[in-house]
Amino acid sequence: MPDSEPLNLPPGEDIVIDYHQLEQVLPQLTGLVATEGNVFKAKFPDQNSWVYNVCDPDMAKHILVTNYKNYKKGVGIKQINVLLGRGIIVSEGELWKRQRKMMQPLFSHKLLTQQLPLMTHCADKLIASWDNNIRAGKPINLTESMSQTALDFILHALFSEDLERIIAETGENPFLMVTDDSARDLLFARRFRQLTHLVSDMMQRRRAENRQPFDLLTMVMNATEKRSGEAMPEKLQIDEILTMIIAGHETTASVLNWTWYLLTQHTDIEQQVLAESQQYMPLDSEPSMADIGQLKFTEQVLDESMRLYPPVWVLTRQALADDHYKGTDIPAGTDILIPPYLMHRNVAYWPDPEVFDPQRFSPENKAKHHIGAYLPFAIGPRRCIGDSMAIQEMAVHISRIIQKIHFELVPGQTVELEPLVNLRPKQDIFLHATYR
Ligand code: HEM
Repeated sequence: MPDSEPLNLPPGEDIVIDYHQLEQVLPQLTGLVATEGNVFKAKFPDQNSWVYNVCDPDMAKHILVTNYKNYKKGVGIKQINVLLGRGIIVSEGELWKRQRKMMQPLFSHKLLTQQLPLMTHCADKLIASWDNNIRAGKPINLTESMSQTALDFILHALFSEDLERIIAETGENPFLMVTDDSARDLLFARRFRQLTHLVSDMMQRRRAENRQPFDLLTMVMNATEKRSGEAMPEKLQIDEILTMIIAGHETTASVLNWTWYLLTQHTDIEQQVLAESQQYMPLDSEPSMADIGQLKFTEQVLDESMRLYPPVWVLTRQALADDHYKGTDIPAGTDILIPPYLMHRNVAYWPDPEVFDPQRFSPENKAKHHIGAYLPFAIGPRRCIGDSMAIQEMAVHISRIIQKIHFELVPGQTVELEPLVNLRPKQDIFLHATYR
């Protein structure tokens, strides 16, 4: 920006936000939006450049969609970088564009159709795993169970028969460290990166045995760039596989966890989901894609659950070059925080924001939403690539389980939020489960 002209910056001269103070960060940001408005600036401790907090849907759209090329991923990305190498969640520019195009076919309608039996199988397996507790009247650990089932699905979607083989050969599932260890620090990153060798061995073995089972690993191994016909380099193949494990399991687990919790608090809505599931989700035969397409109210419930508890509670970006938005200057290097958690509680767009009301997502109401006011999967070119897969997997899970099991929250628990990389409950949530 030219030195001579004074910059037009948003309010917030003396605000300091410490993201490591997990207890405080959500209440602090909520309070600041109330006093400073939807867009304010702040500083991180020990940092001199500005960070803008953006809860204005129009400005969010400008950053994530209209002028997305001027923004790279921001705060926290280095940590994820160590974890995921150059997978598409962290890569930028031409590399990202090329990789995203090559990865897109993995999430096609055809593939989702073929994954449907796996989704039902994972839900049924989970129900079976609760049997002892249900019969003994012992509570189940919802948070742990959701994490396990989401990991179970993504690992089978990725590795199919090879996963069972590894477990049979080594006597354990080496990927379980992902749910056993919720810290996402450097130590975890180092342990997680060791899985690189495992995936690489799996690929070599498939090539040697000339095996191509139907799964995401085979698709990644066969992915080619359309124009040049070149295959994806093996290092990137591995990074994309590891990316799908992390991106595809924690988020889904978090939504399922909060959705079941919300259903225990709203029995009228639970009854509506049950009625829809009984009508459209067969239990004695495989559901079709058309059946899943009928689970419209269940989807509304999931949408509303992600409004209240978006797993990715903050999106981060950094301005590459100077930018302006409606009179506000955004100098190059400015960090941007766009917190869906707060955006989804903006009263101008979400009346009575704390109320759980799936009718907000009825087709008529959905058509009226501002695109920038609802961001569970982000928007724009970097929108989540696995959104349809996740919605389908979660709808199948809910509609199968709800027909067999009724949950009640174990009384006396404190349910608190912990905004780590994903929005998690601070303490695991326990439910009493009974057969219907
Ligand atoms: C309910 C479940 C999910 C939620 C809420 C979710 C949320 C998100 C969000 C908010 C982003 C954008 C992050 C940003 O722009 O900074 C994202 C990106 C991404 N997600 Fe998801 N996700 C979910 C499930 C999945 C699944 C199942 C997969 C894959 C198996 C997946 C793979 C990815 C990838 C690869 C990206 C990076 C896309 C890119 O930058 O081009 N996600 N997700």
